Amino acid sequence: MFERTPSQEVVALLQDDIMGEHAAIVQYLRHAYSFPEGEFRAELEAIAREEMRHLEWLAEKVVELGGAPTLERGPAVFSGSLTELLAADVKAEEEAVALYRRHIAAIGQEEIRELLERIISDEEVHRQQFAKILEEAEASGLAAASPQEAGIQPAGVAATFLAQDVRHEYTAVLRYLHHSFTSSDCEASRSMEEKAIEEMKHLGWLAEKLADQGGQPEMEREAGTFAASEKELLAEEIADEAKAINEYDQQVEAVSDPWIKALLARISYHEKFHHKLLQRMKEEQAPTKLDVPSPDQRLTVGSLLGREHG
Ligand SMILES: [Fe+2]
Ligand SMILES: [Fe+2]
Ligand SMILES: [Fe+2]
Ligand SMILES: [Fe+2]
Repeated sequence: MFERTPSQEVVALLQDDIMGEHAAIVQYLRHAYSFPEGEFRAELEAIAREEMRHLEWLAEKVVELGGAPTLERGPAVFSGSLTELLAADVKAEEEAVALYRRHIAAIGQEEIRELLERIISDEEVHRQQFAKILEEAEASGLAAASPQEAGIQPAGVAATFLAQDVRHEYTAVLRYLHHSFTSSDCEASRSMEEKAIEEMKHLGWLAEKLADQGGQPEMEREAGTFAASEKELLAEEIADEAKAINEYDQQVEAVSDPWIKALLARISYHEKFHHKLLQRMKEEQAPTKLDVPSPDQRLTVGSLLGREHG
């Protein structure tokens, strides 16, 4: 009954959906860390993780249709009382459902419509979850509390480091997702997705610690764009991991809180592992996969033996 919608139009709609999911992830994480440690925070974090799955599914469809998934994000609500934040989350879910319904009506491709239906079923549950959290937070008197104004960071060396680390991890998540979505190599794509998930964990741990110090974890990208070719992207990732290891190790020395020290040391250990894996990937990469050399750079028997040929 549906005509097939031209791919480009479908991609444009899916990119809108990706921006919405991206905004939801960041909004819910920010709101999660506005609550003290406990059940509400954990529930919001769990919903943010589901939005991450949605983003990945939508990105896969964009790639299947020949597009590059956008790294832009839609508008999000970061400031207000806890009541206002949770009300904004309920509204975000309602708007997401309305947007997906419009897109289902506009898209002819059966498998994409099925995916959007599946996502809607999650968003409806999220809306109910947020409404329930709002009710419970109000009943407990917690909702009357006002989280610190967005953007104001507490003083202190540890908080400054944590805020900087959150930005770095957020950028790393986006870079690895971008690499995973755009890689032509299945194995590399999978490996980058795993790294994105690990960096997302780091982001959560650091944001939690920062929130416990009274700070608001700013989830904004570091300046700059990502490399255009896959080979350059891999080089950029290796350099970035090396920089992160260096910074985390310096921070471990500089902070006095033993829990923050232990956390930073643990993350540094993970980054060292990432660095090694990426290095190995670079070495093992068949030249033809990432980098097709120009004819005069190609290996010849002569060049392998270290002498001129011809
Ligand atoms: Fe979602
Ligand atoms: Fe949702
Ligand atoms: Fe990390
Ligand atoms: Fe890493």
